Amino acid sequence: MTQTLSRDEALAEYRAAHVPLYNQQKLKLGLFGTNVSNGLTMTQAETTFRPSWEQNVAIARAADDLGFEMMVPVARWRGFGGATDFNGECFETYTWAAGLAEATENIMVFATTHLPTVHPIVAAKMATTVDHISSGRFGLNAVMGWFSPEMEMFGEQRPHDDRYAFGDEWMSVVKQLWTSEEPFDFAGSYLSVKAGQAQPKPVQKPGPVLVNAGNSPAGIAFSAKHVDFNFATVDTLDNAAAYATKVRDVARTDYQRDIGLMTYAFVICRDTEAEADAVRQAILDAGDWEGANNLMSVLGLQSESYANQLREFQERFVLGYGGYPIIGTPEQVVEQLGGLSAAGMDGVILGFLDYQQELAQFGEKVMPLLVEAGLRS
Ligand SMILES: Cc1cc2nc3c(=O)[nH]c(=O)nc-3n(C[C@H](O)[C@H](O)[C@H](O)COP(=O)(O)O)c2cc1C
Repeated sequence: MTQTLSRDEALAEYRAAHVPLYNQQKLKLGLFGTNVSNGLTMTQAETTFRPSWEQNVAIARAADDLGFEMMVPVARWRGFGGATDFNGECFETYTWAAGLAEATENIMVFATTHLPTVHPIVAAKMATTVDHISSGRFGLNAVMGWFSPEMEMFGEQRPHDDRYAFGDEWMSVVKQLWTSEEPFDFAGSYLSVKAGQAQPKPVQKPGPVLVNAGNSPAGIAFSAKHVDFNFATVDTLDNAAAYATKVRDVARTDYQRDIGLMTYAFVICRDTEAEADAVRQAILDAGDWEGANNLMSVLGLQSESYANQLREFQERFVLGYGGYPIIGTPEQVVEQLGGLSAAGMDGVILGFLDYQQELAQFGEKVMPLLVEAGLRS
């Protein structure tokens, strides 16, 4: 008897067979921020990260060898000032992904794209090209642009929710270019396309994996409508669990889709808790607090009435760009990653103070324990 698969089932079946991010691993793993100076860490502490192309290739290959699922870059066009000019050096991310696609075999390579900085016809074509270079391992992280000084380098910065309204049109055009065999017209408030078309189509069907980190109501609606994984910013595990449930519900109820959840974390793993704490302290002692304040003031996180919370936020920004801090022994790292998984996270992209060196330690000491814990196989 032939069974007809629903649209969702057919997509799930295709992806499980072809797309690394839909493999059987319970907790997907990735790296975040190897393309920018200082990575995720706003500090002048020893071994803070300086990106070079050679190092990016070496790190991506090491992550690939460990079975990691994704490399996600930061899209940045200027630094945040302060002592480190945090992220002031930044490799452009579509070309970065194309290079890493050639250098790796199984890991997915993402571009992070500020939607207003590139026309969707150009973006769709670049994404398709990297998807072919990588034999179907390309992913796109769609960001709207919150750092106004950098968006103003391109012209205007739109009000918050208008950025997502623009993003909705942008993504609709890209998806049609990836799937439509017929030329199509698009008439929106921001974009207008006449007889739009693009060949070849991407290797992945219906297109490359899409992710987005919108956490506001407009951001969640955008994610729920358009992307495969939403990135949560995790403060507590309870809040993360509630957030994951909410995002999945919006996708199911409003758009009849399933969506996955991921987050980002900053890892300091050492043999003893004392050693890990000492590294954390060294990062904070040499922290670029001016840069962190610059970044947080753009995010609207400067409030006198939350002085204690503010200090905690600042520390999180200095340590790992606001990512969930995972600090301790290999056992403690696994426990905390397990906590994120139990909170509903399908995956975590990681930052390290020194990616190359610490990834090797992570592979040696943490990966076997993740297998024991049932988070990886
Ligand atoms: C994992 C992750 C990666 C992000 N990458 C970038 C980036 O590369 N460039 C950027 O400008 N913003 C980046 N952001 C910020 C988001 O695009 C977004 O502005 C933020 O999560 C707030 O969303 P909201 O406006 O819906 O609250 C990232 C956020 C997360 C959690």
